[in-house]
Amino acid sequence: MVYLWSGNNMAKKKKNLKKNILVTGGSGFIGSAITKYLVKKGKKVIVFDNNSRGRARRLKDVQGKIKFIKGDIRDGRKLLQINNVETVIHLAYVNGTKFFYKKPFEILDIAVNGLLNILNFCKKKKVKNFFLASSSEVYQNAFKIPTDEKEMLKIPNIHNPRYSYGGGKIISELYGIHFAKKYFKKFIIFRPHNVYGKDMGNEHVIPEFINRLRKLKKKNKFLIYGTGKEVRAFTHINDFISGFDKIFTKGKNNEIYNIGTTEKITIAKLANLTASILGKKIKFKKTKLLKGSPSVRCPNIDKIKKLGYKQKIRLKDGITKLIN
Ligand SMILES: NC(=O)c1ccc[n+]([C@@H]2O[C@H](COP(=O)([O-])OP(=O)(O)OC[C@H]3O[C@@H](n4cnc5c(N)ncnc54)[C@H](O)[C@@H]3O)[C@@H](O)[C@H]2O)c1
Repeated sequence: MVYLWSGNNMAKKKKNLKKNILVTGGSGFIGSAITKYLVKKGKKVIVFDNNSRGRARRLKDVQGKIKFIKGDIRDGRKLLQINNVETVIHLAYVNGTKFFYKKPFEILDIAVNGLLNILNFCKKKKVKNFFLASSSEVYQNAFKIPTDEKEMLKIPNIHNPRYSYGGGKIISELYGIHFAKKYFKKFIIFRPHNVYGKDMGNEHVIPEFINRLRKLKKKNKFLIYGTGKEVRAFTHINDFISGFDKIFTKGKNNEIYNIGTTEKITIAKLANLTASILGKKIKFKKTKLLKGSPSVRCPNIDKIKKLGYKQKIRLKDGITKLIN
């Protein structure tokens, strides 16, 4: 028997044969931005997220263009129902500093069991490429600032719950690297550094400052943790995506890339900058730094720059954008 395919049917068949990219944690802040980037590139995307912090509204622009599966990454059986995947971008994780202290076991459970499940899925379904989201938290108090990818990774105090987050990422990197040698064609780790932007959730420093500063009465002082001299370098989500694009399209197998900026700022200056954009003048009330919070964090981004990455959004413009 001979089948005659119209052009339309052929196109449909081709589309169905096209392999998927699976984004775990894809309704989260960074995951949804990556999902939109992939859809824009014409990729077929499946998002897997339990929506514990993920939000459907973040994906409304690509509704109907992606497949969303609600599930917990610790549910291996649910994962195994997914088929036709060529690439996994693994982001599912508990983010937000206050959770590091509040639910360290859950963080490690998701880090470890989630990773084992997704890798088992990849092995069974013959997935070729894997992109692993790690974090700047693996460096803790780095010996070298700006910090490059060769920096020693640390868990400074095994009893401090904060390090559940960074420790979980270190385990993920270590296990992933050695698993990859046997099972993946391409395995890349990226370490985001303090990414901020619209709809990121209020547990992070910039939205938290904006919210508190908006409500701050003239007579009251503004509370900050630490001396105010602690240093961070923030990355706007649009810059993060342009960095991710470089890694996704040009990144080399078995490599690790920082994604961030070198635009350093102290926490006190960040508060003053945010206040001035909001038209306020502030005085500080200081309290103890959260136990284990690094005093300076700033990435060396030479490696990703070699792939063509460049910061485009300066912090002041990014915060103004966010406020507006
Ligand atoms: N935002 C940053 O500045 C930053 C910095 C370093 C690393 N990272 C890493 O990047 C990734 C994305 O971070 P984000 O800022 O978008 O955080 P996020 O919390 O917005 O996204 C994480 C997503 O994972 C989902 N998730 C959590 N537990 C899950 C589970 N058990 N099963 C399925 N899904 C689950 C959440 O619902 C959420 O949508 C994370 O791996 C995070 O550790 C982020």
